Amino acid sequence: MSHQYPSLQHDNTLGLEVGAYQRVIADTPATILRAWQEAKENNRPLLLLGEGSNVLFLEDFTGTVVLNRIKGIEITEQDEAWQLHVGAGENWHALVELTLKKGIPGLENLALIPGMTGSSPIPNIGAYGVELKDVCDYVDVLHLDTGVTQRLRREECAFGYRDSIFKHQYQQGYAITAVGLSLSKKWQPVLTYGDLMRLNPATVTAWEVFNAVCHMRQSKLPDPKVTGNVGSFFKNPLISREQANQLMLSYLNMPHYPQANGEVKLAAGWLIDQCDLKGFRLGGAAVHQQQALVLINADRATSQDVVALARTVRARVGEKFDVWLEPEVRFIGAQGECNAVEAIL
Ligand code: FAD
Ligand code: EPU
Repeated sequence: MSHQYPSLQHDNTLGLEVGAYQRVIADTPATILRAWQEAKENNRPLLLLGEGSNVLFLEDFTGTVVLNRIKGIEITEQDEAWQLHVGAGENWHALVELTLKKGIPGLENLALIPGMTGSSPIPNIGAYGVELKDVCDYVDVLHLDTGVTQRLRREECAFGYRDSIFKHQYQQGYAITAVGLSLSKKWQPVLTYGDLMRLNPATVTAWEVFNAVCHMRQSKLPDPKVTGNVGSFFKNPLISREQANQLMLSYLNMPHYPQANGEVKLAAGWLIDQCDLKGFRLGGAAVHQQQALVLINADRATSQDVVALARTVRARVGEKFDVWLEPEVRFIGAQGECNAVEAIL
């Protein structure tokens, strides 16, 4: 009898009907290590997963998917800050709420981001003017071949825009098991983005910021429990100042954000929107009506539908603006991660 692959449909927020040879729930580092050794002995690949809110499975995975569910939150109060040691399998948004309930501000701008705390350093999650790097103290990584856990301090994590060392040097053969956060007692609200600018910095509370962030997000981003999606499908592109100046001659109202290094970040959602792609549909996949940077599983989409849609979106934006979008989402093939840009050329 052929092996029946367990389903991953509820383990990826796009809700794609894909499977894996084996699906393991790990609530300890030892379980991850055992799964790694067994996979190696059987010459099968292994993929760590949190809540699958930043992955696109291109097909069934031929190895073991390990769902990281390592729990535990320890909070220590110090003179200047609260220090948190958080198990990698703690849900991020639940952590944000828990800290606020305990009277510890600092994570409110990062409310409602799906996924596990252990995944948060990998793309250096960010929203509404705050990134994980602003609150991260350290990341504990388990080296799967040796079983040794190493603590990387924030400065060692090479955090950048949707980037970190965990997408490069520490990508293969490592599992994040815990994240350390440091939340300063000298709380300052970050009110630099969108509707947050309307709040009064002298009187605003962290809960008010939290509520405003939740409200903005709920008005544009689809809830993955209702409509499959992976948040922003593409990164916001960084282009040269010369190219940005050139584009602004034709598009006066183009959102643009000059960076410290001289580059200019554009809003990919705006670029896609300008191509009149909101609501555009290919097979079961569609461009979200409220936010063009989000691709959704509108109706039983297949991986191929999502890939075809992403390819079309990238080509249309590229042809119109000569700006070539790169996926933010990680593309996972039968054996492991693939080059996402090549997959949609
Ligand atoms: P997964 O998708 O499970 O995994 C992502 C990658 O990390 C995979 O390559 C996986 O192999 C690897 N990985 C997972 N766990 C581990 C581990 N323990 N050790 C080593 N590698 C591991 N992101 C933002 O930055 N800002 C936003 O505002 C935002 N909004 C979103 C809104 C919606 C509606 C959705 C669906 C997504 C959004 N995202 C956002 C993207 C997503 O929430 C983040 O990337 C999140 O950190 C992914 O967490 P996860 O546990 O689901 O990771
Ligand atoms: N815009 C449009 N049309 C659209 C979408 C956006 O014109 O269809 C314009 C908006 O009006 C705004 C600009 O584009 O002027 C930026 O849009 P928005 O504020 O919605 O943010 P974003 O750049 O699309 C980024 C992150 C989000 C994060 C928000 C808030 C990336 C790739 N995405 O989105 O992160 O929540 O800012 O900080 O950087 C994610 O990574 O999955 C994600 C959702």
